Amino acid sequence: MVPATLVRKFQSDFNAKPGFIVRAPGRVNLIGEHTDYNEGFVLPMAIDREVWIALKPRQDSTVRIASLELETESAFELTSLTPGSGWIEYPKGIANKLMNAGYILKGFDAVMTGDVPRGAGLSSSAAVELAVARAFACSSGFEWDAVTMAKLAQKAENEWVGVNSGIMDQMASAVCREGHALFLDCRSLEFQHAPLPKGVSVVILDTSTRRGLVGSAYNERRSQCEEAARWFGVKALRDVGMKELGKWGVESGLSEIAFRRARHIVTENARVLEAIEAMNNGNLKRLGELFNASHVSLRDDFEVTNDALNIIVACAREQEGCYGARMTGAGFGGCAVALVADENAEAFTRALSAAYRQRSGLEAAVYVCKASEGAGVAQFEEGGRS
Ligand code: GLA
Repeated sequence: MVPATLVRKFQSDFNAKPGFIVRAPGRVNLIGEHTDYNEGFVLPMAIDREVWIALKPRQDSTVRIASLELETESAFELTSLTPGSGWIEYPKGIANKLMNAGYILKGFDAVMTGDVPRGAGLSSSAAVELAVARAFACSSGFEWDAVTMAKLAQKAENEWVGVNSGIMDQMASAVCREGHALFLDCRSLEFQHAPLPKGVSVVILDTSTRRGLVGSAYNERRSQCEEAARWFGVKALRDVGMKELGKWGVESGLSEIAFRRARHIVTENARVLEAIEAMNNGNLKRLGELFNASHVSLRDDFEVTNDALNIIVACAREQEGCYGARMTGAGFGGCAVALVADENAEAFTRALSAAYRQRSGLEAAVYVCKASEGAGVAQFEEGGRS
């Protein structure tokens, strides 16, 4: 539902009704972690936490955006884009990449809001990027092509913002369907909308820990994977199977660390393929086991969990009705995801928060989430209700 505060703020700032309201969701990755930049498989779903933008097109090249949460306003000229700092770099990066791709852009006046927690591994930045791209599609009147927009948004994040992420988050925010997860091949970008199995809730477990230096650790993992791919003589670790992994030995010239990074990627790709099969067969027990194995691999081989993530996942697995749990997103803090039988979901939420508090001394945010639709234009009526 369109947030009423968004429309009120737009009306008071610009003394007019918005011409459009657009939205783009965050995502939770069910399985397939750190596989996207290794050209492998992922299985994310868009969630009912999103970024909203109310806008009115302008005839000139000025883009003005006020952020409801941050209580700031920022503006830039499409004709003279220069890199700076802060949240406005995401909109600027999107504008830059759209224009470089040949889109003719018009400016807009806008108010932005959202409820995707920042830095929690739920892709708040991809949600901003896709919402801004959607806003430009409205202000400038070009046709929306979800996959093209996801690719441009990733380029903006890599080249303008300077974060070397893969394609998963932008694809999830752009192309997901309500009630479905997205089975995505990150090499070909071929995808399938996979219906979520019946009887199970997807629960997000936010450890409330955040890690500032994710960027450098993330880039380090990337280069270790690239080093391993070179050693195996392939373009990307996607092309390595269990048999090839067996060729490695301590004396082989590839470090033990790089080998373990590779082992995570190879086994994780296999887990995604098995997970989609388990999902299609409604085999929740197997799906949960794959979640658990993924967490262990991310903890021991890829080393991207922290204590809080390990504790919350352990607490989750002890609760009744929990099929499996694992960290989600880049790691180093942020969120885990659990699969819980519908009838246990409410009790799970309460019991988990208490167990986690007791063991870590921290407060978790735990919520059941709904698989949502990718970026789009929202229908709204006067008064701010959709
Ligand atoms: C971040 C990146 C994604 C992906 C995940 C890990 O969310 O933006 O591209 O690499 O980490 O799976």
